[in-house]
Amino acid sequence: MDKSILKKLSYGMYIITSKEQNLLVGCTANSVMQINSDTVAISLNNANYTTKVILEQKKFAINILPNNTDIELIKTFGFKKSNEVNKFANVSYEIIDEVPIISNTCGYIICTLNNKIQTNTHTIILGKIINLKQTNSLEAMTYKYYQENLKGTTNKTAPTYQSEKKTTTKNVFVCKICGYRYETDALELPDDFKCPMCGVGKEYFEKL
Ligand SMILES: Cc1cc2nc3c(=O)[nH]c(=O)nc-3n(C[C@H](O)[C@H](O)[C@H](O)COP(=O)(O)O)c2cc1C
Repeated sequence: MDKSILKKLSYGMYIITSKEQNLLVGCTANSVMQINSDTVAISLNNANYTTKVILEQKKFAINILPNNTDIELIKTFGFKKSNEVNKFANVSYEIIDEVPIISNTCGYIICTLNNKIQTNTHTIILGKIINLKQTNSLEAMTYKYYQENLKGTTNKTAPTYQSEKKTTTKNVFVCKICGYRYETDALELPDDFKCPMCGVGKEYFEKL
């Protein structure tokens, strides 16, 4: 099956946040959609710590990222685990309705968990909107913008990118969506290969 048409689907760029007692959690996500005027859906990987916290606390916020978002913010929330590092250590935020709201975004949508649909990899969480605000008029970042402008530039200029490329003797596959690198002796990825970071299939991987 040629899945290339899936690349034509459009997404935004968000950080989904929640709070477990004193622990602030959050993850980068592109899979957010509005269902109706008071319901939104997010799709979160079952392995994400944020997913566990949202399912337990039944409350979360969608922070809508603008085009001028620092790539480091997206990486911190998109590659690290909330139960291993404090992702909020260098981030400006405030607690609203008991969930962390990141400063300098386009705005936020705060939800209570309304329903969920479990798949083998992801949980689709339906949220009932309880509070929301547009905090400025910056343009919201799209997934396409992230891939083409932000991530492309960062990958190519990062010093580690060069040195890793020179020293490895393995085949290196890079996720075009989130930048995850997978090294293997195999010439090709298996058909059922999924990105452990963002969940996309092998067709999104580029061989270096
Ligand atoms: C650009 C980008 C988009 C992502 N989109 C999603 C997404 O829609 N759903 C998801 O579950 N994870 C997504 N991820 C992966 C999570 O952000 C990542 O696994 C994170 O480290 C989980 O953190 P946590 O364990 O603290 O929840 C994305 C990552 C990146 C870099």
